Amino acid sequence: MTFKTLDDADLNGKRALVRVDFNVPLRREEGADGQVRDDTRLRAAVPTIEKLRAGGAKVILLAHFDRPKGKFVPEMSLAPIAPALAKVLGHPVAFAGDCVGKEAAEAVAALKPGDVLLLENVRFYPGEEKNDPAFARALAESGDLYVNDAFSAAHRAHASTEGLAHLLPAYAGEQMRLELTALDKALGHPQRPVLGIVGGSKVSSKLDLLRNLVTKLDKLAIGGGMANTFLYAQGHDVGASYCEKEMAETAREIIRLAGQNNCKLFLPLDIVVAEKMAPGAPARVRGLGEVDEDERILDAGPETVERLCRAMANSNTLIWNGPLGVFEMPPFDKGTVEAARCAGNLAAEGKLVAVAGGGDTVAALNHAGCADQFTFVSTAGGAFLEWMEGKELPGVAALSKQNRR
Ligand code: 3PG
Repeated sequence: MTFKTLDDADLNGKRALVRVDFNVPLRREEGADGQVRDDTRLRAAVPTIEKLRAGGAKVILLAHFDRPKGKFVPEMSLAPIAPALAKVLGHPVAFAGDCVGKEAAEAVAALKPGDVLLLENVRFYPGEEKNDPAFARALAESGDLYVNDAFSAAHRAHASTEGLAHLLPAYAGEQMRLELTALDKALGHPQRPVLGIVGGSKVSSKLDLLRNLVTKLDKLAIGGGMANTFLYAQGHDVGASYCEKEMAETAREIIRLAGQNNCKLFLPLDIVVAEKMAPGAPARVRGLGEVDEDERILDAGPETVERLCRAMANSNTLIWNGPLGVFEMPPFDKGTVEAARCAGNLAAEGKLVAVAGGGDTVAALNHAGCADQFTFVSTAGGAFLEWMEGKELPGVAALSKQNRR
């Protein structure tokens, strides 16, 4: 890794400006009062905050919430996050209603070493998403050093994720370091053979990802709705299933590309179908080409899952993005749950480095109850996908570049 970490920083008495990702789901129902529904990203920030506090730094947290598009939107305030973070941290967290200017400056000036302050949503200013140098300079006034701990926002070249790294001594936070190390182990310098699982509904949204993966992996299993498009492209009837028929040629191109790169492609061997996509709908296992006109493919079949589990057992590394079926709707969660448990068990026994990421994937692993067994589960959605596509993430690149100077 070419960037500095907190172990390289002199923290004592310093104002550490830390970019975190607190874009967390809130409860919006009446009476819930904006409570955090899933605090994974808050917990992920704790090691960095603790390390900074232990080193005697004043911790100033910068974050975005939702997409207010450069305007103040009261429902997108970070105010409810401060008490939620304080609970997770076991330490008070102050809040300032602005991320720049007088209010921010006064709140920062009041900090003592070890204190923690959360500043208001950086996206309330248009300069954030424009990566406006003047806005980045205004943010930089609150810090002596910059820590980026928001891997999940590193695909955005924004003032607080990219611009700041050029203005202050810049360091990778603990979560950033963990994410990059795990991802490097899974795709950068993996122990081979490496197996990938890509699921989800659309081939069209994961084209770059599939094209990149077939050049890097030894084996790639395709599941979820996008597998229907591949089956259709191979001439199998998919009945009333979700299918991007216009992507058939692209699917064939990916099959060819996999062949040229010696990447063994696993498409479904059997499937689970139903007439209705509804919880508890009667499900049937079918062979390929046996789907009736009014049936929809909603999950991977048992033979497919069994072969996938065998492929995991014969691999040293697994990288997983996207469920194999409609896992939110039992009984169509079965394929994803069984495959996830199989990966979790192998990882827990130390036989497989299993890395997963992307919003739906994490929800699916949690549903299967095996997220904790995985070697690493990324907190990132879009950033994880862009990284799997082989793209440079501006937030990560800025951290490395500064240190090459
Ligand atoms: C995320 O939730 O994936 C990150 O916080 C990025 O959010 P964004 O897609 O609104 O930039």
